[in-house]
Amino acid sequence: MLYMGCLRGGSTSAVRLMPPTRRALLGGAGTALLGGAASTLCGPGARARPAAKPAGFGPVGPPAWTSDSLQAAAARTGLTYGCEVPHYRLDMAAYRRAVARECGMLVCGTAMKMEVVLAQPGIEDFGPGDATLRFARANGQRMRGHTLVWHNALPDWVQPLLARSGPAQAEAFLRRWIGAAAGHWRGTIEAWDVVNEVLAIGDAVQRPDGLRETPWLASLGPGYIDLAFRILHEVDPGAAGTWNEDAVEQDVPWMEARRTRVLRRLEGMLARGVPIRRFGLQSHLTSTLPIDQERLRRFLAEIGGLGLGIEITELDFDDRAFPSDIAARDRGVTDMARRYLDVVCAEKAVLNVVTWDIYDPDTWLNDHPNRKRPDGLPQRALPLDAGFARKPLWHAFHKAFRDAPDHGAHRDRLRRG
Ligand code: G3I
Repeated sequence: MLYMGCLRGGSTSAVRLMPPTRRALLGGAGTALLGGAASTLCGPGARARPAAKPAGFGPVGPPAWTSDSLQAAAARTGLTYGCEVPHYRLDMAAYRRAVARECGMLVCGTAMKMEVVLAQPGIEDFGPGDATLRFARANGQRMRGHTLVWHNALPDWVQPLLARSGPAQAEAFLRRWIGAAAGHWRGTIEAWDVVNEVLAIGDAVQRPDGLRETPWLASLGPGYIDLAFRILHEVDPGAAGTWNEDAVEQDVPWMEARRTRVLRRLEGMLARGVPIRRFGLQSHLTSTLPIDQERLRRFLAEIGGLGLGIEITELDFDDRAFPSDIAARDRGVTDMARRYLDVVCAEKAVLNVVTWDIYDPDTWLNDHPNRKRPDGLPQRALPLDAGFARKPLWHAFHKAFRDAPDHGAHRDRLRRG
């Protein structure tokens, strides 16, 4: 298998990098992927760290989730429940216990992003991702990969690199990055968010195709999206390629326009033979906007009708439109959850429901200028509270999973691809 290698003076040298065998990867020996080529991976003076002692991804243990867990309720109808974990949080025993108890799937908040793996030019750091993967495998949990191509979480040295790269150089860099990340974790990731947030939002919608202006678009043109899916499929054909997108879930005209763009682009990608298998709705739901169940149901049905799987990839609920009173906020958030999950769980193409972390203190919403509460109170966005106790929102998830129709056979077929 040929990956475009490093660049010297603008030319591209093809470097034959045999991807690590699955056995080698499972022994954690995959860090030699770019070997000496990494020495010019990203500019002069960069050097590849010698292949680390095989970290190994450890054994796949028995499922650790409990019979009364969200995962147990989800699995009854072929769904999987999981959550995003910040890798540093796995140092906390109570957090580890809660995630093991409730989840059938994990995704890294940052550990598999370029900002961690390639933080330093020419050095790949798979450690945080390996540690999270080892934890998941030990608890019988599956992993999502997040995310390969995004305009955020780019290391400081990458944007100037892309800015001075022509298409051939940018493609070579993209191939090396996906080859490194998806190659290292080859065979262990159920689905990768191949591209993330590729549609422009609001006033930034300038292009007829609605694409967001990003360093990837600037250096590679609109074909970068198809290209990224094709590269992932070369590197890890067993991993489903997912297009992950935000702000497509609620009932406002500008989100309806985004839903239309999504459907048109998905149809085009399939017509071009792009190996996309899933669409991800991030689902950062806001209490400031309505949820129209019929519009949502129709959108999901149209995606499923294309033969694609659907993932709810980053679900959480900002409660900033609700009063300060905790009981009132919990009522508002559980109503949002019920309205959303009743539709999501009824769609047979939906495979995974993943929240963006699992316990309130970790939510990103409190730190985001546009999402935090005007009264400054910590939000009640996730299923577990600060003491890892199950909140009314947890019970709303559990009821939605319990009451959902059984689409297990269809979901199993979609997962097999
Ligand atoms: O761990 C370092 C710490 O050592 C350092 O002191 C600190 C200050 O520099 O940074 C810490 O890393 C930060 C990391 O979050 C962990 O907190 C990164 O700088 C910061 O960029 C990173 O932010 C993440 C962001 O994506 C960008 O990767 C957020 O945690 C994460 O919640 C957010 O998640 C995104 C999804 O990927 C895409 N959808 C939206 C979602 C929310 O923004």
